[in-house]
Parts: sequence; C-alpha cells; structure tokens
Amino acid sequence: DPLCFSGVWRFRELLPFAPADRIVTIGEGQTLLQRADKVGAFVGMSTGNLMLQYEGMNPSGSFKDNGMTAAFTHARMVGARRVACASTGNTSAALAVYCSATDHGFKAIIFIGSGKIAYGKLAQALDHGALTVQIVGDFDDAMTRVREVSDRLGIYLMNSVNPFRLEGQKTIMYRVLEANGWEVPDWIVVPGGNLGNSSAFGKAFIELKHLGLIDRVPRLAVINAAGARTLNELYSAREVRWRSGLADSAKIGAFYNELDASGVKASTIASAIEINRPVNLKKCLRALEFCDGVVRQVSDQQIMDAKARVGAGGLGCEPASAASVAGAKLLREEGVIAPSDRVVCILTGHQLKDPTATVAYHGADQENFEKVLGSRGVRRAGFANR
Ligand code: F0G
Repeated sequence: DPLCFSGVWRFRELLPFAPADRIVTIGEGQTLLQRADKVGAFVGMSTGNLMLQYEGMNPSGSFKDNGMTAAFTHARMVGARRVACASTGNTSAALAVYCSATDHGFKAIIFIGSGKIAYGKLAQALDHGALTVQIVGDFDDAMTRVREVSDRLGIYLMNSVNPFRLEGQKTIMYRVLEANGWEVPDWIVVPGGNLGNSSAFGKAFIELKHLGLIDRVPRLAVINAAGARTLNELYSAREVRWRSGLADSAKIGAFYNELDASGVKASTIASAIEINRPVNLKKCLRALEFCDGVVRQVSDQQIMDAKARVGAGGLGCEPASAASVAGAKLLREEGVIAPSDRVVCILTGHQLKDPTATVAYHGADQENFEKVLGSRGVRRAGFANR
C-alpha cells in the first residue's frame, strides 16, 4: 500500500473524500512525538509530562504539508491547474513543493506581503519555481488580494479557508494519539495564526469522540503572539464564544471596525503568525468550545526565549512554533496547567525556516557568553560580535 508512507493517508478512513487512486502525496506527515524533559523543566512540568510534536520533518519543513496533500488531492479531483495562496511563508513553500514534486500540471501562484517573509521560506518558493508576487501590505492584505484574484480568474485557492486543508491537518492529532498509545493527553498547545490547525484539531476530536474512538477530549490552548492577538482579544477579553451565534458575529464585526479605525497592523517576530484577520476564526471558536479551550498571548521575548530552550533541548523550531512552548509555560505559571498534566506542544515549523531571527537573538547574547565562558583566554580570542 503506497499510501501507508503518508502520515496523512494512512488515516484515510477518517478523511474519506477521495478515491485512493486520485490521491496526491509526497510522503508527508512522517513526524515525531518526542518526550522533552529539558523543555518540560523550563515550562514547569514534572519529568516526562511535556511532549513536543515536531512537524518540521515534513517535506517542505512545516505542518502545512498535512493540509496541502489533501487540498491538492481535491484540486486534482476537480481538474484544477492553477493553484494560489497568500502566505507568511510556509503555506507558499508547501504549495511550491507540491507543484514541483508532482506530475499533474499544477502551477503555483503565491502572494506575499512585502518584507514579511522569512528568507528560508522565500528561498523555497523561488527554488521550486513558483510565480511569487510581492504586494504592498501585509499578510491580511495579501489574503484579501488572493481571494479576489482567485475568484475572478477561477484559480484554486490553497489557503486554509479551503476545508480540505483542515481535513489533512486533522491527522496531526491522530499521530499524536497514536504515538501516545491512543491515550488522550490533557492539553494540546498550538500557535494561532490563521487558526487552521486549531480548527482542524477541534474537528479531529469532535469526530473521534462521536465515533467512539476516544472517550474524552484534551483541552486546547491556542497561543497568539502579542502583536497579532485578535483571537485572544475576542475570546479572552471580550468572551466571544461560538455558541452565541449572531451576537458573536456582531462583536467580531465591531472588533474589526475598531482595528481598521486604529490602523494597527499585526507585528511580531514570529512572522508566520503575524495575522490580524484569521480566516478560520469561527471554526476555531467552535473547536475551543468543544475542547474546553483557553487562549493566551505571549510576547516576542517570551517566544524567542522559549525557542532557545527548544533548541537547547535538541529539537529546533522557528519562532512561531515556540509560541506553543511559551504559552504552555505561561499557563503553567497561572496554574491553569498542572505539573502532572500531560501536555503536547506542537512545533509547527523547522528551525532553518527563519535563521535571521535566531542569529539576531543569540547575537545579542554576547555579554552572557562572556559571563559563562569568560576566562581571559576566551575574551581575548575575540568572539566579540564586531
Ligand atoms: N506556525 C507556523 C510555522 C506557521 O507557518 C503558521 C501559519 C502557524 C503556526 C499558524 O497556523 O494558521 O493554522 O493558525 N502560517 C501560514 C502561512 C499563515 O502562510 O504559512 P494556523
């Protein structure tokens, strides 16, 4: 069974929309759930209770491949050729890889905000031959533009507004459960950008519960960067819930009007999640409701400190991914997460996606370096950052 090499399609009974011979796969989803005691100590967990679900091993280096394989399968089923996305970098890298690595005549068109993409990700789009368009503005502007252009020109849209993307991303949770002997952890902690993952995870648990394959669901924690905190504003500050329907729509609309009036744009070092208008907002609210969820925001400093601890613990990740670890630490400090809880943080993207942020962070560590290794010899050896 060639599909058993895909960490997405070996669960195909749980995303049953495509005949096996139409599936577009490049062996995505062979990822890793790893016990992480050093990072766990940083977060404040008892030994053995923090696990990291590392999605950086995917062919394009991020979790996006889980969704792309499903959306490309659907695109092939409907005979699409031109496929487009707006991206902060990982969706576009994945899109470019699926177009170049498969043989179904797909042509990639990518919209990115100017100066808003980490170099590793831009390099992928270019190397894999995607038509890459930089627009004036940020991700939210690029998203508006690509929706308008795809509508007008009949181009297949690959962003996570595409429900097939979320079908594929459900499998991240299946693999977490599988690696955990189908025991349900107490917490899943995930960074929140466009809120595709959190929505997909919620859907996965809703379905597994209804199918009777699990008897309880984990709690879901979605972590925003402080500079891109729409979900946190709405869910934590304004208590916008999914169930209250119309009232919520009005509150969300009012919030977006305020945002427009203020002229404030999303801004965070975690460029992958620098998003103020998450397209899956309502689906995410539903997921939060079903999974007794919480939302928090973390600062860029907290994100980069957590990222360094993940790296020191042996698994690298990009800044946005580390928001999950920073968020878990915050929830631990608040006492919302107990040290004895079983916690899974999702590391969404590979360390090498954004080397600039990493080098800048550690470059600022010069003084520390001298304190730690500060014999005269080392100081004289001239490690200074000149
Ligand atoms: N982590 C990484 C590394 C990402 O690239 C993204 C999203 C997220 C987290 C947030 O996930 O949207 O499901 O809440 N990146 C998108 C992109 C927006 O264009 O690559 P989400």
